[in-house]
Amino acid sequence: MRLNKFLSNSGVASRRKCDELIKEGKVFVNGKQVKELGTVVNEKKDKVTVEEKVISLPSSFVYIKLNKPKGYACSASDEKGRKTIYDLIDCDERLFSIGRLDYDTEGLIILTNDGDFANKVAHPKYNIEKEYRVTIEGDIKESELAVMRKGVVIDGERMPSARVEKLSQDDKYTKLSVVIDEGQNRQVRRMFEAIGKSIRLLKRVRIGQVRLGGLSRGDYKDLTEEELNLLVRGK
Ligand code: URA
Repeated sequence: MRLNKFLSNSGVASRRKCDELIKEGKVFVNGKQVKELGTVVNEKKDKVTVEEKVISLPSSFVYIKLNKPKGYACSASDEKGRKTIYDLIDCDERLFSIGRLDYDTEGLIILTNDGDFANKVAHPKYNIEKEYRVTIEGDIKESELAVMRKGVVIDGERMPSARVEKLSQDDKYTKLSVVIDEGQNRQVRRMFEAIGKSIRLLKRVRIGQVRLGGLSRGDYKDLTEEELNLLVRGK
């Protein structure tokens, strides 16, 4: 098995991130540093370590959906010492999230130790939709919604278009649904910043056909067989 596949299947990180770890010289096979991306390992015999941790393939796969609360980082260890989503999950397997949410964003996150599955779901070819609930301060004009639907322009560059619907409004706040199928860094926040709107709450409620449902903040549960199948089929 190729070393990057072995590492991602073992839950170290995505295939691309594993390539970076290899190039950075953080991976050792039988005690020898390996920087060659094409390296093949015998998963039954070879001893693979990353930063002195021995890596092994999981004995079984885990697929979890989590309702991430605001105030949690999605990285395995946070450089600022903040709480991470891994503090919420009691699991002996090395899990990683498929995509991330900002520290201040809440909602649906999918975690797994199955690297192949994660690579498939994250692959741009599938363009899996992500749906958010956004609460902004004040009102929003139809012309501003039209700008977001077309794709806001930031520093001369057009952001991907989004499906944006106004859901409700009171005298202080407006609630919207936003659906995007790319996952650029801080995409939703940047879209609203570009039209001068301040976000009060950002929550992801759906990835593909998998919904957050009634999961309470900080709770998680296994994805069903049906949810898994829908995810690998895309959209
Ligand atoms: N868009 C953002 O701006 N933040 C997230 O966390 C997710 C999507």
